[in-house]
Amino acid sequence: MKKLIISPSILSADFYNLEKDAEELKKCGADTLHVDVMDGSFVNNITIGQAFVQSIAESVPLPMDVHLMIDRPERFIKDYAVENVNNICVHPESTDHLDGTLQQIMETGIKTGVALNPATPLASLQWVIDKVDLIMIMTVNPGFGGQKFIKAMLPKIEQARELIDDAGKDIILAVDGGVTGDNAPEIVAAGADYLVSGSYILSNKNLSVQQAIAELQKAETRK
Ligand code: DX5
Ligand code: ZN
Repeated sequence: MKKLIISPSILSADFYNLEKDAEELKKCGADTLHVDVMDGSFVNNITIGQAFVQSIAESVPLPMDVHLMIDRPERFIKDYAVENVNNICVHPESTDHLDGTLQQIMETGIKTGVALNPATPLASLQWVIDKVDLIMIMTVNPGFGGQKFIKAMLPKIEQARELIDDAGKDIILAVDGGVTGDNAPEIVAAGADYLVSGSYILSNKNLSVQQAIAELQKAETRK
């Protein structure tokens, strides 16, 4: 059975005390740290940039998965290809040259990822699938943490799973947005093997970080 990966989003963390939060997340069983980079143009929010990612790279105790929600990410790939970054995810709409951008990521030796907005079809992966290590199905419209999971994305997750199985390549299927202990079982049953979760883990009024991660881990992984 494949291990289900839990990746807390630092969007819901305390940026000022990130190291402390990251230590706790690791202790509680998180596998990676999801880093949401937003530029105020591709999405209506601004978070952090490459200087921040570079400065935490050496000290965070978990590998980072960098989710670039920025226009023309091809300009900055090298800046994010730093120590401790496991994969870099880009959105097809953000670049005129998805193939070239993925190629650039590959050349840094870091895993590639493509994030698909709710309305973006899986077909946008058709001609680049051989360059993709991770597909991230967005189950909210990107920009903010704490939004509600869009249930209509469940069949899309199933179709992404089929696409991966047909591709005959070990591509990770990640889901990002509104993931909670309640919906994690159906997300995993649909074929996901990687859950990004922000507010449920880090600003949960009822559960501790440890309990929230344990709830997510309970979602049985695909056999
Ligand atoms: C949304 C981000 C997500 C978000 C997840 O634009 O890409 O990673 O932070 O947070 P929750 O789990 O609160 O939806
Ligand atoms: Zn994200």
